Formats: sequence, structure tokens, C-alpha cells
Amino acid sequence: MNFEPVNKIAILTRDCAGINATIRSVVRTADRQNIEVMGILNGYDGLIDNTLIHLDRRSVSGIINNGGTILKTSRSKRFFLKSNQAKAVHTLKTNNINGLIVIGGDGSLQGAHILATIYHIPIISIPATIDNDINGVDLAIGANTAVNVALDALDKIRDTATSLERIFVVEVMGRNCGYLALQVALADGCEEVLLPEKNYDIDAMCDEIKKGNSKGKKSWIIIVAEGKAKGEDIARIITEKTCLETRVTVLGHIQRGGHPTALDRIMASRLGYFAVRELKNGVTDRCVCLKNDELITIPLETAIQPKKINVDLSYKLIKFLS
Ligand code: F6P
Repeated sequence: MNFEPVNKIAILTRDCAGINATIRSVVRTADRQNIEVMGILNGYDGLIDNTLIHLDRRSVSGIINNGGTILKTSRSKRFFLKSNQAKAVHTLKTNNINGLIVIGGDGSLQGAHILATIYHIPIISIPATIDNDINGVDLAIGANTAVNVALDALDKIRDTATSLERIFVVEVMGRNCGYLALQVALADGCEEVLLPEKNYDIDAMCDEIKKGNSKGKKSWIIIVAEGKAKGEDIARIITEKTCLETRVTVLGHIQRGGHPTALDRIMASRLGYFAVRELKNGVTDRCVCLKNDELITIPLETAIQPKKINVDLSYKLIKFLS
């Protein structure tokens, strides 16, 4: 294949645990290949506005264990405008950047696919999102940490739920994907989980609670995926129908932060290394990931399609064990 040798790359990120470890791996791999690295500040907004910093081995020291992103980020609405996409491409050209690594979730990958296909920018993406909603990717960086962070919070909620014999409704993030909610419900031994992928029968759920309550069961933890319903609405209905007291916790952004788990750091280190290698080999418009512990790439076109997760087995197990 004929392509311009990659000698200067840029990194653009979203934020979640494990992204700093990914940046570190990309920078140090590139350094060993004599490839210069620039960090784009503030995500796609920084690409439009030409806010770049130079990154070397030293600038990524001591970040492997930190959450967030040292590069800062944005949810750029501006990038959807063609005029701003042209500015983004201009930034890459004027800085002589001939390869881009985009680390993030669905929105970041969509932007990467636009740059690769319409503007012919050599691009590799690395999936990183707590939602774990990248199609064709088993596990995105950050998702494992988010499950563990939520689990830590739930363990604490359980202390009060059992001590005060209350029903707790806990809303978790995940956008339109039930991955996070399902994992957390199974790992914490919750009684119920409401998922975007599954219909629920609130009357049957309340009957089950009333029946359990009459037999002496006093505390419940019910997980609600934000893409399905609002925790407060579910709690209100439960109180109305069962006359039992409920409390609501919305875990929110704590799930996106925190120190990455070992799994996320290891995956970040492997995928960052592989992304640079693939870019150097002329691979573009693809997303790196792990399949059966092998490093592979899939087309970005595939990765940005809606992901369908099979929730049935885990859901049945949650109900079976509750
Ligand atoms: O995509 C990650 C995510 O944390 C979702 O789970 C959540 O719905 C959304 O981002 C929150 O977005 P923001 O941080 O822009 O409020």
C-alpha cells in the first residue's frame, strides 16, 4: 500500500478512567518509533481552534493511575458544521500532522469516521466509554472502572438499605445502553434492573415487592438505567403502589471518574501501543479492540452502528439469584 510515512501524530480524547493510561501508551510507543506526538486540548473544539501541545515521554509520567484526561475535552457541537470540519483539517495540515488517534466513545468515533472518509485523514480510534456501547467491541476502556465505582457506591447504599429496611432505587449512567446497569445489578446481587433493552412491568414488580414484604423481606435495591427511566419516577410509582418507603440515588458522573482498574490500565496500554503500530502500517478509518485476548481492528463504519447487547441471560440470573 502507498501512503505517506507517519512521522507526526496527534491525540484527541474524551474523558473516562483509563484515558490517561492510553495517552501514555500512545506517546511512549510513538517515541520509540521516532514519531512526534501532539496532544489536542479540549477534544474536537481544540482541533477546530488549533490548541495543541507537544507531548513527550516525560509529559506522560505518573498519569497511568489517574482518571479523566490530561488533555481536557469537550462535547463539541461545533464539529458538526462543515466549516468547522474544514478548520479542523486545516489545523492538522498546518501542524504537519499525518496521523490522528481518537480516544473516546460513540460521538468521538463518529467524528473520526468523518475525518477519515471525507477528508482522508489517517485515523485510528481507541474505544473508551463507560457506556460500553461501541458496536463490535466487547469492552471499551473505562467501562470496567465505572462498574467497580458504581459497585463501591452500591455496597455503601446496601448498608443503609439493610439497616433501615428500605427500598433503594439507584439510577446509573450508560446512555441508551444497559451494559453498566446490568453488570452492576448482577455484581451487587440487586433484586431488579430496568434496562433500555427490555420491557418492564411495573405492576408485576410492585406485586413482587408487596409479596416479599408480607413474607418478611424488607430491603430492595433496584437499578434503573438512565436510558430507560428516571430513578425518581420509578421510586414514586413504587411508593404509590406498595405504600412502602423508597429512597433514590443518582450515581451520575462519579461513574466516569476515579482511578482506572488494573483491567482498564492494561487494556489502555495494549490498545495504545497497537493503535500507533497500525497507524504506522498505513491502517486507517478503523477502531482497535481486543477479541479473545487478541489485538484486532474493526472498521469505524461498523463501530459507530448502534450496539445490541444480549441482556437475557444476565437478567434471568439476577432474578434467579435474588
Ligand atoms: O457517554 C458517557 C456518559 O457519561 C453517559 O453515560 C451519560 O449519559 C453522558 O455521558 C453524560 O454526559 P455529560 O457529561 O455531557 O453530561
